[in-house]
Amino acid sequence: MARSFLFLLGSSRTGGNTEALARLAAEQLPTGTEQQWLRLTELPLPDFDDLRHDGEEHYPAATGNAGRLLEATLSATDLVIASPLYWYSVSTPVKRYLDHWSGWMRIPGVGFRPRMAGRTLWGVTALATADPSVAEPLAGTLRHTAVYMKMNWGGVLLGHGNRPGDVTSDEDATARAKTFFS
Ligand SMILES: Cc1cc2nc3c(=O)[nH]c(=O)nc-3n(C[C@H](O)[C@H](O)[C@H](O)COP(=O)(O)O)c2cc1C
Repeated sequence: MARSFLFLLGSSRTGGNTEALARLAAEQLPTGTEQQWLRLTELPLPDFDDLRHDGEEHYPAATGNAGRLLEATLSATDLVIASPLYWYSVSTPVKRYLDHWSGWMRIPGVGFRPRMAGRTLWGVTALATADPSVAEPLAGTLRHTAVYMKMNWGGVLLGHGNRPGDVTSDEDATARAKTFFS
């Protein structure tokens, strides 16, 4: 099956370090590899409503931005969550998107969970702190999500930077970006 990458940009600003690092890594994908880039702030989702135990296990069909994101997610073999480190974890738009997976798993006829199994989940992040261990909650969130969904775990590409553009001076990160997806 031909690989198809979905990059979900989770920063609350455009042109930031996480996106720059993700684009550097994506440059190394083999020519012709399908890539789709979506900015979560341009496709805002409502707060997630947990209906699981209201006597109704079924969720309504995803429409609007949710429908667009669900379709893009299901069409990718490789899902790249590009989230800056916010309070040691993923950004709010990313967290809200992941919360919606709980509903998507329960939309009749979609088969979200079995269809996501076997795909690969990747993370890309930028953080201001020099100590990369502070990003463990973000890495753990994504890694455990992959395990729960029976997805393959690709790992996290982590770069250091605070102001936009800083990450391009992180030599370890830019070197790692070159082989991250290979
Ligand atoms: C709301 C918020 C929370 C942040 N929390 C952290 C944090 O917990 N640890 C850290 O090292 N940097 C933190 N930062 C700094 C960002 O991770 C850093 O500026 C990063 O480069 C932003 O990525 P971006 O340029 O892709 O938006 C935070 C920034 C914001 C705006």
